[in-house]
Amino acid sequence: MNERFQSDMAGQDRFTGSFTQQEPIPEAGIEAALAVLRHGRLHRYNTAPGEVAETVLLEEEFAAYVGAKYCLGLASGGAAMACALRACEVQAGDPVLSNAFTLAPVPGAIASLGAKPVFVDVTEDLTIDLAHLEAQARASGAKVLLLSHMRGHICDMDALMALCDRLGVRVIEDCAHTMGAKWKGVPSGRHGAVGCYSTQTYKHMNSGEGGFLVTDDAELAARAVLLSGSYMLYARHRAAPGPEVFEALKLDVPNVSSRMDNLRAAILRPQIGMLDDRRARWRALYQAMEAGLSGVPGVKLIPRPQHEDYVGSSFQFLLPGWGPDRVAALVAAAAARGVELKWFGAADPLGFTSRYAHWRYAAPEALPQTDRILAGLIDMRLPLTFTVEDVGLITLILREEVARASTAPQAAAAPLPAAD
Ligand SMILES: Cc1ncc(COP(=O)(O)O)c(C=O)c1O
Repeated sequence: MNERFQSDMAGQDRFTGSFTQQEPIPEAGIEAALAVLRHGRLHRYNTAPGEVAETVLLEEEFAAYVGAKYCLGLASGGAAMACALRACEVQAGDPVLSNAFTLAPVPGAIASLGAKPVFVDVTEDLTIDLAHLEAQARASGAKVLLLSHMRGHICDMDALMALCDRLGVRVIEDCAHTMGAKWKGVPSGRHGAVGCYSTQTYKHMNSGEGGFLVTDDAELAARAVLLSGSYMLYARHRAAPGPEVFEALKLDVPNVSSRMDNLRAAILRPQIGMLDDRRARWRALYQAMEAGLSGVPGVKLIPRPQHEDYVGSSFQFLLPGWGPDRVAALVAAAAARGVELKWFGAADPLGFTSRYAHWRYAAPEALPQTDRILAGLIDMRLPLTFTVEDVGLITLILREEVARASTAPQAAAAPLPAAD
């Protein structure tokens, strides 16, 4: 008997696993972190003679993993996006295109420069709407797109890049949910001018907080290193261009300190080699979710394109045409049986889940297509501490509760569970 399965007073199955429990840091990462703590040189530029900092090695190894020329470690995924925008010379007041369906750090990175997010509709496949992207680019005159591969759904990258090239729009990829994923065999983050990643605890490598950016563009890379706060010690980077590229820029680029440190780098280095195995394990959980929910009346699953090699660290489905009371009742009933769902249609932002209309600082215009889709969008974490057997129970509970919610009369919404 799985200890995560229990029955409640009514004899119903209840799931008792944690939706927010990560796997431990690998022993090699713990050992390397202890070595850094013991020698005390946590700052990336504080090295003993002949020593190569953990941060520098991490950047080289991550660049090799995604096949990029240059890589920079940063303090967070949000810091990586803001650094990429600055490196692309976005100025205060500039319009920057981005997904309406994403999470708060994405418009926040744009707003941190004083630039103006211009939101683009989501499709029912949960990817950016290319027709609306073109319309918004033309209407706003934006020259940069911060493309969020939100919840790991990758759009047709060939079509997107062709469109953006035609429009003269530079693409920065937010790969917070696609580290290790690919489109037609090309790693996510390697289509646009810059790829940004997060190593925050809920992502695909875990250092608590952290991030990277990668690029093949020498000037962008040099600007990013200077922006991150390199104190003219850029020659110590290895996954960076040569000193001549820095020489031409070093007096013009401000220091916006957001470096990664050696402790996080030590924790992360052994995790790079685990990414492909993690992707396979996440895929097994994701496919078990798909199998368990396929054909359930009232539930629409999200199709995954053949060219997308996705990671699947979370699962989404749509409840088309469901009213808010009914969706709220399902979320509450699932929570009562231990299954934590997030709902992108909730009136108020909860925990990590907010949507474009909540970002008032960006003065968002109404997007009816996105509103309709998000009104029925359910999201669920799939931590690697779950087993396929766990997913079997989760989908059983969901099937039962969807059936109950879809036949129940529309009643007042039950209170929503607290999100993490
Ligand atoms: C879609 C998306 N992009 C970017 C980030 C930024 O990551 P970080 O928390 O490392 O700043 C997150 C974090 O949750 C995210 O969900």
